[in-house]
Amino acid sequence: MKLAVIGTGYVGLVSGVCFAELGNHVICVDKDHAKVELLKSGIVPIYEPGLKELMDSNTKIGRLSFTSELDQSVQESDVIILAVGTPSLPSGEADLQYIEQAARDISSALNGFKTIMTKSTVPVGTNEKIKAIIRSQTDHEFEIVSVPEFLREGSAVRDTFHPDRIVIGIERKEAAANIVELHRPLTENIIVTDIRSAEMIKYASNAFLATKISFINEIANICEKVGADVTKVAEGMGYDKRIGASFLNAGIGYGGSCFPKDTQALIQIAGNVDYDFKLLKSVVDVNNGQRFNIIHKLESILDDLYGKTIAIWGLAFKPDTDDVRAAPAFDIINSLLKRGALVRAYDPVATENFKQSIQHDNLYYSKTAEDAARQADALCIVTEWREFRQLSLQEIRSWLKTPNLIDGRNIYTEEELLNTDFVYYSVGRPK
Ligand code: UGA
Repeated sequence: MKLAVIGTGYVGLVSGVCFAELGNHVICVDKDHAKVELLKSGIVPIYEPGLKELMDSNTKIGRLSFTSELDQSVQESDVIILAVGTPSLPSGEADLQYIEQAARDISSALNGFKTIMTKSTVPVGTNEKIKAIIRSQTDHEFEIVSVPEFLREGSAVRDTFHPDRIVIGIERKEAAANIVELHRPLTENIIVTDIRSAEMIKYASNAFLATKISFINEIANICEKVGADVTKVAEGMGYDKRIGASFLNAGIGYGGSCFPKDTQALIQIAGNVDYDFKLLKSVVDVNNGQRFNIIHKLESILDDLYGKTIAIWGLAFKPDTDDVRAAPAFDIINSLLKRGALVRAYDPVATENFKQSIQHDNLYYSKTAEDAARQADALCIVTEWREFRQLSLQEIRSWLKTPNLIDGRNIYTEEELLNTDFVYYSVGRPK
């Protein structure tokens, strides 16, 4: 099939590369000329394991290309994939200006029947708006299909090739054949439904996962008080198939470009139809508070943080990505700086992105984990990078001035800490 992907952000680029790998002919389109030039020269602007290799091989054999020429790309393709961003407005609502602009751009380029497939996360009813925009500007026939994306950053390539399900939202089910065919090599679990339900499935899925995280974080907070171990509690709960074991890792809460944005957007979507989504509002509140547990624990050990050196390991919102959007590290570091602490921060790949948002006289970005930890009064683990797990506790101990370890992601077990002199605080485990 011939595909044009509009938008080379996370979703667009990964989908484009993976559809090319499946044998389709893919043109990735972006208005940002500089980005297109980078992509053409083989540079992947995001850190995503496995993506560069696939991008290189498919570009080489001519199945994948990059351009800023939207009109020609649309005209040469059978399916147009909309994958532009839908960031949050200050109100929490999704900002649809990019997707609406893309719809206008596509409509003026149409030269015959096309399937227009939306992958961007959009509020319920948006695909109908897209349809109305295009319909008002062209006489050519087209079909709108909503195919929400469920890939995770850091495992985007694997998730794309092995999805749990593909959801296809379409007005006329009989017109779904080519989109079903496009996704058939990926999974048997293809659900064809109406467009509004497809749009809702995406938000409901992210909101449910965010709810699991906030739920287990609250259980963790209670575990700390009653002397139970949340990792055991989660394990015991997870064997129940109705609950499931994943997304029950307690920690300092979720970040990233999806859960914070999509939970807010769903609260707004509900609010717009006079529904007060109380449960989801609490999920967001719990998440916003959870990251400060690190600060409370530091204060319980060090008392006043003024003038204390605090090492922060991990700036990305999760491992295997350089994405720092809505990363808990921002609030944690800002809060430390406000208290007069000296912060030494390290991340294997996200430092450059993080630096663009915070510069401060008392914030030093280290080039190695060791450099950040040297002579620190406490070390806080904020992102569970594999690199941190691989360092020996004796070595880490030798770098620190005082052996205070706040493990915000429960990367160590209590047993590992048994014969050490670390003052160790994790999340939801007995002290
Ligand atoms: C999330 C969803 O998992 C994807 O299915 C969805 O496609 C994507 O959003 C999106 O809407 O585009 P992502 O944000 O990349 O993917 O990352 P996740 O692996 O879901 O992690 C999100 C956050 O939750 C991270 O900050 C992570 O540290 C946190 N988390 C996750 C926990 O605190 N505990 C857990 O048990 C799992």
